[in-house]
Amino acid sequence: MTSEKAGTYMAERVRGFGETIFSEMTALALKHRAVNLGQGYPDFPAPDFVKEAAWKAIARDENQYTRSAGHPQLVEAIALLWQRDWGCSPDPLTEITVTVGATEGLFAAVQALVNPGDDVLIIEPFYDAYPADVIMAGGTPRFVPLRPGEDGEWYLDLEEVRRAITPRTRMLILNTPHNPTGKVFSREELEGLAAIAQEYDLIVLSDEVYDYLTFDGRRHWRIATLPGMWERTLTLGSAGKMFGVTGWKIGWVVGSAALNLAVRKAHQWIPFCVATPLQVAVAIALQEASAQGYLETMRVAFERKRDILVQALAEAGMRPLATHGTYFVLARIDPLGWEDDVAFCRWLTTTVGVAAIPPTAFYSEDHKAMGRRMARFAFCKRDEALQEAARRLREGLRSRTRA
Ligand SMILES: Cc1ncc(COP(=O)(O)O)c(C=O)c1O
Repeated sequence: MTSEKAGTYMAERVRGFGETIFSEMTALALKHRAVNLGQGYPDFPAPDFVKEAAWKAIARDENQYTRSAGHPQLVEAIALLWQRDWGCSPDPLTEITVTVGATEGLFAAVQALVNPGDDVLIIEPFYDAYPADVIMAGGTPRFVPLRPGEDGEWYLDLEEVRRAITPRTRMLILNTPHNPTGKVFSREELEGLAAIAQEYDLIVLSDEVYDYLTFDGRRHWRIATLPGMWERTLTLGSAGKMFGVTGWKIGWVVGSAALNLAVRKAHQWIPFCVATPLQVAVAIALQEASAQGYLETMRVAFERKRDILVQALAEAGMRPLATHGTYFVLARIDPLGWEDDVAFCRWLTTTVGVAAIPPTAFYSEDHKAMGRRMARFAFCKRDEALQEAARRLREGLRSRTRA
């Protein structure tokens, strides 16, 4: 079908969506054999105990449809994790819904809770699914930017958040630890947002898929656990991020029974249920991870990878901004003489052999200028890949900065 013809069939709600920048940069990276620090997925094998858990689940013949809201063994394991690590005890049967990755959790929650014509606050730079989900629900995204301070940290102005609220504002989408900045919201910042949510009666959709990846002694706080927030917050988690198995697409939504009931109404008509053997595998892996202290080992390993990449970017003449969590670091490219992130990332991929993502993809039209002088690099890669990237950046950038 020609794209012109496709255009005539296309529904309004998807018409404005372009191809994601990830597809373009991944294709360029492959063509030019670039070290791919673009897309955020690990390039190293999953831990053996995680793979063995999947084999066990299939061998046990956990191969048929399961409960729509999540396999009983997995929801139980997630509830235990919350109890152990976050001092909160969600009811496994009514307060947890297993979804096709956090991605479906976001989609189902927005479909279930946002009416056509509602406004949804999104903090930018944003994970690119958020505005798309809001638009598909018939809502309007309203953007509030994080701003970098002189100290290289990122700040959210709560007054700007208040100013963006309208009588139609229904939801705030929060992401901590935050992709792509690596910001970990402090308890005080979350308290400020919680006060706003309560004052204006907002639902908070809190994307916390990087909850176990915080560095420099920063502590991850769950906004759902602050006073008065449980009833109005849904928290998203992802086994893909926890165990480095992004292709498994097992995620979950945790929150009050009332909010989960709404999510389940949408979820039952999206996938009905999520891959049964992989749900059981994640349940087994969560138990094993506790026994081995795996999540802490992973955190330490990622912190070291962050350090390798940050040093390489600085040595190549960029200015990496502080990143205290996630898989990502944003680096200023203007010290190299570049003012255009898309042109820079294309050039870096094709000429230097290192792929990165242009952050303007994570900003609304009004604030795109904020992303132009940066590039996003992922450090969830083998040490050898990071070292090879460091070598290419050092050699490629030293002599070739833009005049
Ligand atoms: C902030 C954020 N939320 C959600 C997701 C998607 O999670 P999942 O792979 O579990 O669907 C990602 C993946 O990169 C992400 O960075």
